[in-house]
Amino acid sequence: MDVEALKREAGIAACDYVNDGMKVGLGTGSTVKYTILELARRVREDGLNIVGVPTSIQTQKLALEEGITLAELDDLDGLDVVIDGTDEYDPNFQLIKGGGAALLREKVVAQASASMVVVADDRKKVECLGSFALPIEVTPFSHLTTLRALEDLLSCNVTVRMQGDQSLLTDNGNLILDAHTGPSILDPATVEREILSLAGVVQVGLFIDMCDAVILASSDGVTVLTNPVGRLVQSNSSQA
Ligand code: A5P
Repeated sequence: MDVEALKREAGIAACDYVNDGMKVGLGTGSTVKYTILELARRVREDGLNIVGVPTSIQTQKLALEEGITLAELDDLDGLDVVIDGTDEYDPNFQLIKGGGAALLREKVVAQASASMVVVADDRKKVECLGSFALPIEVTPFSHLTTLRALEDLLSCNVTVRMQGDQSLLTDNGNLILDAHTGPSILDPATVEREILSLAGVVQVGLFIDMCDAVILASSDGVTVLTNPVGRLVQSNSSQA
């Protein structure tokens, strides 16, 4: 099965976590795109009644085009669930996100959600986080000083993410730095805290103790991996 088909399977399977009347965080990326398309189909064909909160301008555009009702997070008293993609997940359900440069809004939305369901294909599974360069959103002001501070802190090369020949600008007008740590992030909670202690850093793409389940698509089919210490542990059978 090709990767696109796996993404589609995982994306659609995650819709099982969405019920009528829910407030749903809509993640960003090429896997969760299929969740959004399926939710929109259910809205149109089955009369599913949901309110979505997008995690990026790209997702906002797609959801609006597809006819999903959207709201501002500020106008809601939290969300029932956020469904989002990931760049890596480790055996403790810790994540690296931000490959699509949407990590700040994704993390704000995830933090406001009663649960987080992650959609992934089996390329995203790692034993130790860090093969995927760690995305860090920083203020444009003196960003090379922040970059050097991050290189000192993490003892690795850090690069400015580009879009063509320009620095990529996030939906928030910031820059993304990618830290090439290699698969060495053994204690992601500490790394997150240390990175966030640097002035100039807005947010880092480590999502710690947020993911409650991974909907994993592989050539064997779709598997639900439920975080044994997560918030969905009683409502799903765990195969983690
Ligand atoms: C967006 O910033 C990211 O966090 C994405 O959710 C992540 O990169 C996964 O995207 P794909 O599903 O496209 O791999």
